[in-house]
Amino acid sequence: MAIEKLPEAEIKEVTTTERAFSRFLRRKSPEELIKCSEKTGLNRALSAFDLVVLGVGAVIGAGIFALSGTAAAGGGGHIGAGPALVVSLVFAAIACSFAALCYAEFAALIPVAGSAFTYTYATLGELAAWFIGWMLVLEYIIGNIAVASSWSGYMVSFLKGFEGSILPSFITNPPVWLVNNYTAAKEAYIDQSIDRFVEFLQVKFTAIGANTGLIAEHFTASKFDPSVFNPVVFERMGFNPEILLDPASQIPHLGPVPLAINLPAIAIMAIITYFLYVGIKESAKMTFTMVLVKIFVILLFIGVGIVFINPENWTPFAPNGIKGIFVGAYLMFFAYIGFDAVSTAAEETKNPQKDMPIGIIGTLAICTLLYIGVIAVLTGIVPLGNIDTQAPISAAMHSVSQHWVAFLISIGAIAGLTSVLLVLQLGGTRILYAMSRDKFIPGVFSKLHRKYKTPHINTLIVGFIVAAAILVLDLNAAAELCNIGTLAAFMLVCAGVRVLRKIDPQRHRPFKVPFVPLVPILGILTCLALVVLGLPTPKTLIIFGVWVLLGLFLYFTYGHKKVRLHGYNDC
Ligand code: ALA
Repeated sequence: MAIEKLPEAEIKEVTTTERAFSRFLRRKSPEELIKCSEKTGLNRALSAFDLVVLGVGAVIGAGIFALSGTAAAGGGGHIGAGPALVVSLVFAAIACSFAALCYAEFAALIPVAGSAFTYTYATLGELAAWFIGWMLVLEYIIGNIAVASSWSGYMVSFLKGFEGSILPSFITNPPVWLVNNYTAAKEAYIDQSIDRFVEFLQVKFTAIGANTGLIAEHFTASKFDPSVFNPVVFERMGFNPEILLDPASQIPHLGPVPLAINLPAIAIMAIITYFLYVGIKESAKMTFTMVLVKIFVILLFIGVGIVFINPENWTPFAPNGIKGIFVGAYLMFFAYIGFDAVSTAAEETKNPQKDMPIGIIGTLAICTLLYIGVIAVLTGIVPLGNIDTQAPISAAMHSVSQHWVAFLISIGAIAGLTSVLLVLQLGGTRILYAMSRDKFIPGVFSKLHRKYKTPHINTLIVGFIVAAAILVLDLNAAAELCNIGTLAAFMLVCAGVRVLRKIDPQRHRPFKVPFVPLVPILGILTCLALVVLGLPTPKTLIIFGVWVLLGLFLYFTYGHKKVRLHGYNDC
């Protein structure tokens, strides 16, 4: 049988297309990446113990201290998982452990800064690496917006405890527009109006012997905006509409611009930026103290709370069925984010081959156990409808009259959230550092400080970006966005392990993922399930889509060109 020959023109076409595409698949070898890191070298100062501290420091934060309330009871456009949130936590932890194993193999194999960005560059090539780097920026930088907002919330409620003391009232009871961004401030004024309105109705209805509890529950749960009430009706009922707080007149304006700014969140970001500017060892020392404090308060909550558990609160166990469990798992995934930040410090670790796997897997195990304890106790103490969605853990202690424990918990939450801010911010700067070293973004991001050996300009830029973004994004929106970016990054890391095993099977792997390809495949499937079944809100999906398109635009107009211009092995 005669073999049909392709016409000359067609052969050329195939070759050109292939060549064009292969440009985006160019990989950097692990040796090359390690060599680059040695040349530009950050300070190698961290041990395995430091890494676990760094990990727990990054992980336990806004997820358990703030988002757990919404994840259990519902709110912010989500249904709640109920007491079945413990199942959600286990599912999210399983998804994370598959990804953690893959991270550990890579982190020990390629112990350089940049985490999943670097691993992907060595396996799936340039375009995928850029994509993942872009996702990690979403994870660390947007994630920190959520944490900073929740830090501010806990700080304000902590300061409220000093009302009536020698502290001036603008500190113990600051104006809403000075401790929230515009959206959150608007929401807060509406909430306060509802409270005032409900109080008025309660007085009226008590007089005629109606059930005032139900009235309060109805207006609060439906987020009813009392300002839509007809003023004439108000007056007839004897209600003074002036006590309602109209956000437009409460928030000061500079011309047409409303001046609502989350000052505590911005202040803490400035402090964190300073610590990262002066050096990683100092940051790790500070993290250690904060980690001890937060573990102490979590154990205190479990220890004290266990006595007050009423098993009846655990039924119905899953009021919104499987759907609720997955939505809870998607939200609580945020509570695990950060363990991968350990791998971003690989280049600053003394013995990365041995210490990295211990750091990552140790972190995940400790946090999962603590979370299960906290959620079981929280849903056991407080009936579902009464779980607080701002500060659920300390509010649970107030509900059983353990006010001192609640006070200590708010101190622990502030410490815990501070350490998360520190580690995530560290991760964000190191991703940009690695991307800059590989020429994907301008060189200024990898410039090291002569004395401190930190990427100081990069640190200042990231600090500024987070502080600016706090003006527009709130806790829930930022956490959701951060989750979807992180899950995309995890899936690519899992795929990368499988690819590197195929293309480079002989390489010495100080830590090997067991049962390849099963574990990476399960990693991809479980992360995918969290996105698909966890139903992020349409707003999140749209912002995520825009972020991806923006990233691709920057890659094709800047990153790819620069990388080619400087040569792939230049660093
Ligand atoms: N896991 C971190 C937190 O819950 C991001 O705050």
